[in-house]
Amino acid sequence: MLTDERGDPLKARSLKPQVNYIFHYPFEATPVFLLDLGKAVPALKKDTLRTEAGDVYAWPGGVGKARSLVAFSAICAHQLVYPTQQLSFISFRKGKPVQARTPDAGADLIHCCADHSQYDPAQGAKVMSGPAKQPLCAVLLEHNAKDDTLTAYATLGGELFDAFFKKYEAKLSIEVGSKARQAVAQRSVVKELERYCKNPVKC
Ligand code: FES
Repeated sequence: MLTDERGDPLKARSLKPQVNYIFHYPFEATPVFLLDLGKAVPALKKDTLRTEAGDVYAWPGGVGKARSLVAFSAICAHQLVYPTQQLSFISFRKGKPVQARTPDAGADLIHCCADHSQYDPAQGAKVMSGPAKQPLCAVLLEHNAKDDTLTAYATLGGELFDAFFKKYEAKLSIEVGSKARQAVAQRSVVKELERYCKNPVKC
C-alpha cells in the first residue's frame, strides 16, 4: 500500500496533477514515478509495447476515479540512471522541456537528461526519442474506490532490476544499506520528487 510521509494510507485525491512523486517498489532501493497525468489514460492493446528482448505486452492504462494515475520504474531503460536523494537526471516534465536538445522533444514526457531518452507516460512509457531501447518498466496500481487508496501489485514490461543492482551494488550499499534488495513489504512511502531529491536536474 502507498502511504503519505506520516505513514498513513495515501489518498489518491491528494496527488497534484503533473507533479513527480517517488515511491519504492518492488525493492526497497528501486524508485518508481507516480504521476497523476490530469487526464484519462486509456489502456494500450497487446503488441503496442515491446521490450528490448522482443517481448510484446499490453498495458492497462490509468487507474483512479479519473483513470489518470500511472506508475513507472524511475530507472532509465538506457543506462539505468535513477533519482537519488542527492541528484536526479530523470523526471516527468510538464509541457515542453525548457532546453530541449532533441528537435522532436515532445510535451508532458518523462525525460532523462543523461542522454535525452524520452518516454510517454500516457502510452505506457513508450520511448519517444533518444537511445533507450524499451519503455520504462510499468508498475501496476490498484485503486480502492471505497477508501481512495492505492496499492502497487506488479511490474510489467522490461525489468532491469538485476542490471541495476549489479551496476550500483557499492553505491546502494552506502545509500540504502543491506535492505536495498529487500522486497518492499506492506507499505511504501510516497514523496514529491522535489522533497525526495535535493537537486532535481532539468534539461
Ligand atoms: S541513462 Fe537515460 S538516456 Fe542514457
